[in-house]
Amino acid sequence: MHLILIDVKRGRKRVIREDEDGTNTSYGRISRELAEKYVGSYIPNTFLAVSPLSLREAAYQPKKFRYATQIIYPEDRGTIITFADIRPNKVVLEAGTGSGFLASYITRHAGFLYTYEVREEHYKRAVKNLRALARPGSRKAFNADVREFKSLNVSVDAIVLDMPSPREVLEHIHETLKPGGRICVLVPTYNQVEKVYLKLLELGFIDIFARESIVRDLSLKPGAIRPVHRGITFRIFTIFGRRIYGSSSRAGFEDDKGDK
Ligand SMILES: C[S@@+](CC[C@H](N)C(=O)[O-])C[C@H]1O[C@@H](n2cnc3c(N)ncnc32)[C@H](O)[C@@H]1O
Repeated sequence: MHLILIDVKRGRKRVIREDEDGTNTSYGRISRELAEKYVGSYIPNTFLAVSPLSLREAAYQPKKFRYATQIIYPEDRGTIITFADIRPNKVVLEAGTGSGFLASYITRHAGFLYTYEVREEHYKRAVKNLRALARPGSRKAFNADVREFKSLNVSVDAIVLDMPSPREVLEHIHETLKPGGRICVLVPTYNQVEKVYLKLLELGFIDIFARESIVRDLSLKPGAIRPVHRGITFRIFTIFGRRIYGSSSRAGFEDDKGDK
């Protein structure tokens, strides 16, 4: 178990990873053995409260769980899991694995995850993070282009793409999605939202919609509660669609173009 030690007097946090024997604090070195004894309470003679580390907290500890890439922050996982309808009996395909954070979140909800990362150095980092953060026995990670997934002849319930050129791979992998299955594409600009939207229409996806998630923390000062001035307010845009057999939705696209 990864642990977090919260110094309630100074507001500092220290993490002890599963494979570490302790951490240095303002009260000297605290061993894993001692911290484990006090999970859910305070370490005697200190202001250190001990708790199991959450996946969200792990994502904000880049010194302990290193990033090889930009990552998907845990606040966005609710949107992805909810609208891609990822549940314990569902099989999911994801690319690129990147630093393995989104992949780790997905394994906590899905039945099984296939995840692809084309760059070796990213793959190696992701494998380390997956070992530390993913649900055991829940995934297979490949150091390969996601287009190769087709050769496995596996159908999936959902596809999640967080990679620079999702449009280029969509036509190679969309048929691995079961009819009725959901796609979720994550992009950082409005321009890419439009490009992905047009590609999904072209491929016959229906029920397409896009979201922008804006989150603001509140400063809890009694008598003056309001949004904090600093923090990450924008992270990613999410586009969802549903795969359906047949060509009627493509015909719908032609009609839409005619209306303009
Ligand atoms: C932004 S990162 C993904 C971060 C990841 N979602 C996370 O939370 O850690 C995008 C990754 O996509 C990978 N990538 C780009 N094209 C790819 C492809 N065709 N197949 C597999 N991975 C690809 C890149 O090498 C990069 O590591």
